[in-house]
Amino acid sequence: MSLAVELKREEEEKEKRMEWWRRAKFGMFIHWGLYSIPAGVWKDKRIPGIGEWIMYRAKIPVKEYEKLTELFNPVKFNAEEWVKIAKEAGMKYMVITAKHHDGFCLFNTRYTDYNVVKATPFGRDPLKELSSVCRKEGMKLGFYYSHVLDWHHPDGMGNDWDYDPAKKDFVRYFRDYVEPQVEELLTNYAPVALLWFDIGNRLPYPELARELRDLVRNLSPDTIINGRIGHGMGDYIEMGDNKIPEHKLEGDWEVPMTLNDTWGYKSYDHNWKTPGRVIQILVEVVSKGGNLLLNVGPTAEGEIPKPAVDVLKEVGKWLKVNGESIYGASASPIEVPTDALYMCTAKPGKLFIHVIAWPWYGELKVYDIPEKVRRAYLLATGDELSFTQEGTHLKIKAPRDPPDNIDTVVVLELD
Ligand code: GLC
Repeated sequence: MSLAVELKREEEEKEKRMEWWRRAKFGMFIHWGLYSIPAGVWKDKRIPGIGEWIMYRAKIPVKEYEKLTELFNPVKFNAEEWVKIAKEAGMKYMVITAKHHDGFCLFNTRYTDYNVVKATPFGRDPLKELSSVCRKEGMKLGFYYSHVLDWHHPDGMGNDWDYDPAKKDFVRYFRDYVEPQVEELLTNYAPVALLWFDIGNRLPYPELARELRDLVRNLSPDTIINGRIGHGMGDYIEMGDNKIPEHKLEGDWEVPMTLNDTWGYKSYDHNWKTPGRVIQILVEVVSKGGNLLLNVGPTAEGEIPKPAVDVLKEVGKWLKVNGESIYGASASPIEVPTDALYMCTAKPGKLFIHVIAWPWYGELKVYDIPEKVRRAYLLATGDELSFTQEGTHLKIKAPRDPPDNIDTVVVLELD
C-alpha cells in the first residue's frame, strides 16, 4: 500500500471512530479507588490537594497504603444505578479509573494481585459489571489508565519514597505490565469505547507512546485514544484539568472538569458547582467546539455523592428540553461579543442562541448573523418570537418570562 493510500485509510477510520464522540458532547468521568476510603484524611490529618493524590501527598509507604484493600468493600455499588444517573444527566459516555496513579486495579488482572477481585473483601469486578450494564443500556464506556505514574509498581514512575528512582526500569514496567494490562482491558471488557491515558507529557520515550497506540489500534480499531497518551498519539486533544480554552478551537478536544474541587472523593469538599454553573460550562465548551467530561467521585461505600446526583439531575432536566442545541452541535459560527448576554451553538441552517442573562427590558440583541433569519422561536416551547433584522444585526422581542432562568435557548432558522 502506498503511503498516501494508507494515510487516507487511517483518516477514514478515524472519522468513523470519532463519530459517536463528536455527537456525544457530554460524558461522565468517575474517579474511584482505594483513595475513596481515606477521602482526604490520613492519620487524622486533612491532606491538602486532590483526593486521589493522597498517597503521594502524604508520602504513604506502599505497605501501609496497600492495607486499604482490606477495607475496600463498597457494598452499595450498583452499576445499574450509576449508568442511570449518567443517563438522566444527559451524559452519553462514561470513563472510569481502571488504574489510577496509586496503582490499584479496579479490574481483575493476571498481572498483579493488587486488584479489586483478588485483594479486597468486596471480591467483585466493578468494571465487568459496568461494562455489561453499559452494553445493555447503549452507554459508551471508557477506561482511565495511568500508564506513566504508578506509585505501587517498583518500576513505575512517581514513587521515590519507597523506591530508588535510579534502580527503576521504566521500559520494563511499560512493556511487561502496562501493555499487557491494556490488552486485558481491551479483550476482557470489550467493547471499550475510549482509553483515557494521563500525564503522557511525562512519558520519556515517544516510541512507547507509539507502541501503545499501535497495540490499541490492532486489538480494537474502534477504541478512541485521548490526547494524554502523549507524543501526539491520541485521537483528540485533552485540555488541562478544568481549563476551558479562551477561544473557539478547531479539531476534537475535551475538557475534564471536577464537580467540586477534587476528582477522587473527599469527605469535606462541599464546593459543588450549581446546576446553572454546569449548564453554562457545558454550553461554553460546546460553543467553542469541544466535549465536557464531568467528574464524580463515588464514596468508599460505592455511591455517587448525593449532592452530585442532585446537580446532575437538574442538568439532565435542562438537557431533556434543550438537548437539540447541544448533541451533535458545532461551535459558534458567529462572533459573540465578550460582554454579550448569550452564547451560541449551531447546526446546519440553525443557530442556537443560549441566553444566560435574560433581557428583562424586553429586547434581545444578537450580532454578526451571517444570513437572513427566517424564523425565531423558543426551543423549550416552540413559541414564535418576532424580530427585526438590519444586516447582520438582529433585535428580538423578548417575552417577559423566559422558560428557563439558567439558559433559555432561542432558535434562529437561517435562509
Ligand atoms: C490530573 C491528575 C489526576 C486526574 C486527572 C484528571 O492529571 O493527576 O489525578 O485523574 O488530572 O484529568
